[in-house]
Amino acid sequence: MEPETAVEAVVEAEAPVEPVAVPEAAEPAAPVEAEQPVAPETVAPPEQVVPQPVEAEVVAPAEPVEVVQPEAVVPAEPEQPVQVEQPEVVAPVQVEQPVQAEAVVEPEPAQVPEPVVVQPEPVEQVALAETVVPEPVVAEQPEAPAEAVALTELPAEAAVETPVDAPAEVPAAPAGVPAESAAQPVPEPRAPVQQQELAADPVQPVEAAEPAPPAEEAVEPAEVQPEPEPDRTAPQPTPEPATQAEPVTDAEDGTGPEVIETPELDEQPVEQPTAEAAAPQEPFTAPAPGYDDAEREAVLRVMRERRDIRNGFRSDPIPHEVLLRVLEAAHTAPSVGHSQPWDFVVIRSAETRRSMHELAQRQREAYAKSLPKGRAKQFKELKIEAILDTPVNIVVTADPTRGGRHTLGRHTQPQMAPYSSALAVENLWLAARAEGLGVGWVSFFDEREMVRALGLPEHLEVVAYLCVGYVDEFPEEPELLQAGWSKRRPLSWVVHEETYGRRALPGEEPHDLLQETISAIRPLDAKALGEAWERQKRMTKPAGALGMLEIISAQLSGLSRMCPPPIPEPAAVAIFAGDHGVHAQGVTAWPQEVTAQMVANFLGGGAVCNAFAAQVGAEVCVVDVGVATDLPATPGLLPRKVRKGTSDFTTGPALTREEVLAAIEVGIETARDLVAAGNKALLTGEMGIANTTASAALICVYTGADASEVTGRGTGINDEMHARKVDVVRRALDLHQPDASDPIGVLAAVGGLEHAAMAGFLLGGASLRTPVILDGVSAGAAALVARAIAPEALAACIA
Ligand SMILES: Cc1cc2nc3c(=O)[nH]c(=O)nc-3n(C[C@H](O)[C@H](O)[C@H](O)COP(=O)(O)O)c2cc1C
Repeated sequence: MEPETAVEAVVEAEAPVEPVAVPEAAEPAAPVEAEQPVAPETVAPPEQVVPQPVEAEVVAPAEPVEVVQPEAVVPAEPEQPVQVEQPEVVAPVQVEQPVQAEAVVEPEPAQVPEPVVVQPEPVEQVALAETVVPEPVVAEQPEAPAEAVALTELPAEAAVETPVDAPAEVPAAPAGVPAESAAQPVPEPRAPVQQQELAADPVQPVEAAEPAPPAEEAVEPAEVQPEPEPDRTAPQPTPEPATQAEPVTDAEDGTGPEVIETPELDEQPVEQPTAEAAAPQEPFTAPAPGYDDAEREAVLRVMRERRDIRNGFRSDPIPHEVLLRVLEAAHTAPSVGHSQPWDFVVIRSAETRRSMHELAQRQREAYAKSLPKGRAKQFKELKIEAILDTPVNIVVTADPTRGGRHTLGRHTQPQMAPYSSALAVENLWLAARAEGLGVGWVSFFDEREMVRALGLPEHLEVVAYLCVGYVDEFPEEPELLQAGWSKRRPLSWVVHEETYGRRALPGEEPHDLLQETISAIRPLDAKALGEAWERQKRMTKPAGALGMLEIISAQLSGLSRMCPPPIPEPAAVAIFAGDHGVHAQGVTAWPQEVTAQMVANFLGGGAVCNAFAAQVGAEVCVVDVGVATDLPATPGLLPRKVRKGTSDFTTGPALTREEVLAAIEVGIETARDLVAAGNKALLTGEMGIANTTASAALICVYTGADASEVTGRGTGINDEMHARKVDVVRRALDLHQPDASDPIGVLAAVGGLEHAAMAGFLLGGASLRTPVILDGVSAGAAALVARAIAPEALAACIA
């Protein structure tokens, strides 16, 4: 790969490639994502949907040429080399100020504290049942107040990190890289984005960067009313931060690879309900009391410290009275219509456990075979059950018929029966933790097979198979997290205020996902970057001999804050799919339906993208952000349609600003999901017939190049259609006069849903310090938009 920016790569790729160097072009078989127009059959299983060119096009192609996005893979020499902005930038590398600088940069003012991750623990209050021995009975408890507050402390940004550039030309001068890189100014975006411009219409005022109120202030305790009991005062809605949610971080600084960093937000103090508003109406009675601090902390602690255990079980027998307490706790779980649909089958026999182990082993192998290589490698190292290592196994079942035909609450939602049994499992798990017993849940079973093997009544559903025993220790973090299989999602990602998408923790104002993402994007870590360059200098190779690889390795160090950086695998490809109204202008030889057909192809594993992904062991998912037709639910498809295709931007805006923001959020959330699922690298993919027309328009806006310079031949269109495509791009730009400093407006005018989503994907990846590999002209166009939104996002991009 040439040492060039993503932008350069894109523009070069998008440049006219006339004559098209695709010999098979004249005899199209089907569009495929490949350099050569290989018919999908070569890679697709026979049942794959193979899109066929359709004659009844708005504008019938004179020469139907069907290589999907050859720009992305055909590095044809452009006839007219495109002048690209900032051509000197080799890699989009920006660095953070070193902490204890190995003096790779000029001394800079005060170092910004590293973002500290505070993982708020879910906090709940539970009512504990009292037990009457020997008959376990459920004692009604007054309901604990529902109020449960978890606070996230976000460090206030003391100062802005001073980004410095990485070396532009490493091969030329690798020795002086860090210092030189520091000396180079950050490439300025063409048009720095004002925060206001990101907002949907009407423009939202930007929140002032005010410090968050101290936790104590965040939730004012309600006025304390006369105490009904000396020790059980009215519940304090304000949790005690010191005793409640002990933040869990992995590295000392809380920024290790297993932690999803909680973005720093400019928080505004939230108006607390006034005493009058909070005060109960007359006649006043105090609400039922909660627990005192120590009791509450004990309850919260057991929830925090419950772990799924696979390793380190001991063979010590479990005394009957201990197991009885644990089962009694399970039996006090809530259940639909109070149907108590659970049964607990306690298994101790080594023989039964052996046969269960064999069943699980078979499923483990089947699952391993289904995994992409990157994941399979990881999975091989994982222990997923401790059936033979534990003295007691417990099968928890659900009887969907218990309680008779009219069980309250099960009429509409029959799944409430197994849900109830799952709650019994949680009770059991917590009680076991309090007893010092480890529990490991095994779900590698074919349920019916297990029912038969255990001789269970056929009408029962198996909800859980649990391995129970004493352990050497309880890990502080989930074992899967420690193994790098997954990351913990911050609470702030999942709490919504009133409507889905208005994310806000109690006591906070709802925050804008895009703004939150932007504020979490940081430059590369200068210290790790400096170490990477130093390390390369010590290697037995000529300086710069590895070209782009040297830059990427340093970039990965800067991103991960580690030198050498961890290998970024497993990886996931997200293919964003959408349709385009501009298709009506006859800018492509392919009918719009091909978008949906290719989506089916990707999901069936039959596209070139799948073949490449399989080679590197990456997972492939398709995100429907705007395909014009309804797509059937399929494994691997993420249904996130914002709308069915864009409008024709030669006659009006392609999208509304709200739609652009929604599509950007789809991209951000996709990045979040894939990273939280343990992926260490993200790859872009896209599918959208006619999307190179939108790409060309976006590139014009952000490079200032003429439409004729950057409008490519897409799937290999002929001269006539190409001329029309150039004209379409030109007309759209004339019509909208997009303002480069308003990237949301630019996307709304001439963008595509997949461009917006990919821009969000890049921003999301960057905010999580995860490298994003750009592939294709549309991804490059999206990167230009992402750069206009947050210039430092490019530090995470590899092209
Ligand atoms: C429904 C369910 C099924 C599970 N199945 C398995 C399993 O088959 N094998 C396994 O090792 N862990 C299994 N687990 C445990 C989870 O991996 C574990 O809860 C998760 O990694 C979080 O770790 P923690 O429970 O220690 O917080 C299961 C958990 C649940 C809730």
